[in-house]
Amino acid sequence: SWSMEHFIDEQVEEIRKNVGTKNVLCALSGGVDSSVAAALVHRAIGDQLTCVFVDHGLLRKGEADGVVETFRDHFHMNFIKVDAKERFLGKLEGVSDPEKKRKIIGNEFIYVFEEEANKLTDISYLVQGTLYTDIVESGTDSAQTIKSHHNVGGLPEKMQFDLIEPLNTLFKDEVRRLGTELGLPDEIVHRQPFPGPGLGIRVLGAITEEKLEIVRESDAVLRDEIAKAGLDRDIWQYFTVLPDIRSVGVMGDARTYDYCIAIRAVTSIDGMTSDWARIPWDVLEKISTRIVNEVAHINRVVYDITSKPPATIEWE
Ligand code: XMP
Repeated sequence: SWSMEHFIDEQVEEIRKNVGTKNVLCALSGGVDSSVAAALVHRAIGDQLTCVFVDHGLLRKGEADGVVETFRDHFHMNFIKVDAKERFLGKLEGVSDPEKKRKIIGNEFIYVFEEEANKLTDISYLVQGTLYTDIVESGTDSAQTIKSHHNVGGLPEKMQFDLIEPLNTLFKDEVRRLGTELGLPDEIVHRQPFPGPGLGIRVLGAITEEKLEIVRESDAVLRDEIAKAGLDRDIWQYFTVLPDIRSVGVMGDARTYDYCIAIRAVTSIDGMTSDWARIPWDVLEKISTRIVNEVAHINRVVYDITSKPPATIEWE
């Protein structure tokens, strides 16, 4: 009968047999799929694997550090972190169209990754965290793409590696169990879905460092309070969005004219449809109070109560 240990043994053997003495590269995003794939391949071939982690500066608070800690400090993998924040923000300067932002981030990601890959010699294989569902969903007659989802799947056509896709018979819940079995921490294994373009599509309109900071800090407050309320496993996705508007408020005796932050929190099975999460009002109150008190330039907090459809989960 099928067991996780048996699956690991089988995959380890197969990966070793296929790879031989060759070297393998993995683009690590810090997401569940690429993380579990990297951990599994590392179990099989150790130092023959090199992971490249591109920090595009659009990650959540503490996220890049968490990835470094897990893969470099804990697993002791060959690990390359590329600090590409300036580069991404430079390319994104003044760009406000959501699809243009996605394209820039996706392309830039490929360029940065390719540059790193070219510095390494003797790479024959590329690890991809493709799931069974990814294969099914990318079928040619699938529904029309509503937003162009960027993931690392865009890479191989441009690069001459053979692929190792050790998760391509698994569903998401199996991948999470596998990750735990391989020793990955809960923050990674039970991480909520996070889009490739990251906070770049949560700052609506043109991206600035100041606006990224507002989203990052408010998002950290939201995540903290959701965890404290014990709701983090019940809500599919929860995050903050910075609309490109300011409104009037009052602080002490003074009138303020500052940004508002929106909270988006949804329940969903697969991200295709969703409902807004019924977060208890006292939890929402705490979140609102803390965001206004702790995050500079926010004088208003609103809660998004639309389902998908007609809205999408992300605002861009
Ligand atoms: P929407 O906003 O289309 O999102 O309802 C559905 C799910 O997909 C995620 N999402 C993305 N993921 N690249 C990604 O890798 C993207 O460009 C992207 N846009 C949306 C979103 O977070 C949700 O989980």
